[in-house]
Amino acid sequence: MKAKLILVLAFLLTFLSCQEKATKEEERVVGVLGQNGMVASAHPIASEVGLEILKKGGNAYDAAIAVQFALAVVYPGAGNIGGGGFLVYRKSDGEIGALDYREKAPGSAGRDMYLDENGEVIKGKSTRGHLAAGVPGSVDGMFKIHEKLGSLPMEELLQPAIDLAANGFLLTEREAGKLNRTKETFLETNTVAPTNLISDSVWHENDTIYYKDLAATLTRIKENGRDGFYAGETAKLIVEEMERGGGIMTEEDLAAYSAVWREPVTGVYKGHKVISMSPPSSGGVALMQLLKGIEPFDIKGWGHNSAQTVHTMVEIERRVYADRATHLGDADFYDVPLEGLLADNYIQGRMSDIDPDKKTSSEDVVAGDVVPLPESLETTHFSVVDKEGNAASITTTLNGGFGCKVVVAGAGFFLNNEMDDFSVKPGHPNMFGLVGGEANAIQPGKRMLSSMTPTIIEKDGKLLMVVGTPGGSTIITSVYQTILNVLDHGMTMQEAVNAQKFHSQWLPDMVFHEPTAFDSTTVSQLTGMGHELKERSSLGRMDCILVWPDGSLEGASDFTRADNTSVGY
Ligand code: DON
Repeated sequence: MKAKLILVLAFLLTFLSCQEKATKEEERVVGVLGQNGMVASAHPIASEVGLEILKKGGNAYDAAIAVQFALAVVYPGAGNIGGGGFLVYRKSDGEIGALDYREKAPGSAGRDMYLDENGEVIKGKSTRGHLAAGVPGSVDGMFKIHEKLGSLPMEELLQPAIDLAANGFLLTEREAGKLNRTKETFLETNTVAPTNLISDSVWHENDTIYYKDLAATLTRIKENGRDGFYAGETAKLIVEEMERGGGIMTEEDLAAYSAVWREPVTGVYKGHKVISMSPPSSGGVALMQLLKGIEPFDIKGWGHNSAQTVHTMVEIERRVYADRATHLGDADFYDVPLEGLLADNYIQGRMSDIDPDKKTSSEDVVAGDVVPLPESLETTHFSVVDKEGNAASITTTLNGGFGCKVVVAGAGFFLNNEMDDFSVKPGHPNMFGLVGGEANAIQPGKRMLSSMTPTIIEKDGKLLMVVGTPGGSTIITSVYQTILNVLDHGMTMQEAVNAQKFHSQWLPDMVFHEPTAFDSTTVSQLTGMGHELKERSSLGRMDCILVWPDGSLEGASDFTRADNTSVGY
């Protein structure tokens, strides 16, 4: 079912009375409404899979596991079993937690593995092909989630993905286009051509595609648990793939992989408890710094995307992303000063030199050859709430679209190119233009720093919002804006998702914005303050859920920018 756009009169918005009320008598855009459960994901088939699990009595975590596996089939550019991700959860009894199933550097990885003999970064080595892959975490992650939070048998959660892969499913127009655009790269990068992905002519909308090898891999996982991936036939196929393609992942690396339960990052923004991802993601720390940074300013009075609002948010972003580059990395390997970064007085001190009329220059802080942000990026976020009020917020990724573009021959799934999220050389920008240093240097077994920001918000001890998006470095600022859009600007969840967005990350020293994010007056005011503006076609592809005061769930998926779909009941 495609996301339904429901136009309602402003009186419906009185349901949203826990937020700043909308004052204008105008038609409002509301997402998909449900009373018992909601799934918001990047693909309509995956959302339906999750909804079916909820309807047959599964909880939010059962549905989330089924959605992760289904996305690995129907949304292979980012959905995955060959990548990793993060879960942030909040149970209906208020218990919160986070699972880190991020990829790890293989055991023989080294800090200079992407540099030539002169110490220069070899272009493409950390992004494409076998050497770009970290040890995948998704399958172990799903078993850890199931063990702690699931209720239905794992076999039932894997079966929809197996059926889709074995029996085929219809391509959406966007998915057909992605496969067509990546065909040449698939052929160049793979040691064995992934024939099921290659159409003789071109893929069209509603063509049926099959993933027989992937169905067999998922069946091995169903029959053997995590060993169906990290040992036996699948592990053998991965290692053989590495040997053919010059990769370094070994059987031992796979056997040793283990997802880890972490304490989520928490904080309070204007009376709302924010629960988000801790290191090795920078997302939760950065989001909390951004929210605390903006808290003293009257952005509601200034208006959504007005020059003063954008200027202040960008100035805060500049400082927060500078902190990210220096202080954040895998806390199992590097002493991340978490408490210091999140301390109120630190954040307020850091923001105290913001000039209301003039931008600060990022220039003096660190110099780096900043690459432009690429267009084709893939990660995926999904949000699930069940009838008890249990909530799951998951962001998962292969990093770039189709990861390193390598399909494990005979096993039918893509491997990630997450190694590029490490700082491959101090100050050298990664594919998102992000720079880093010691905290995020490559070490064997270490997890690369992430920007993924799966987030949950509660108000007065109750679930209020589940939020997240893909977008590399722009994830953090898209989540930030979406939260402010609801809490400060009085938008519905769908309006907050649809709203035009902007992004700034310290380096490069500019403000990226969607085509109609700013009107012409705002553009000249921002330019007058010294900001360099640059248009990007799209920012954020959110999948969010808002709980209205009467308990209704508003699922809001970004159907304006992509195929994202919310379904509820
Ligand atoms: O973990 C990270 O921050 C990145 N690997 C996420 C990549 C991403 O979001 C790509 N895009 N849409």
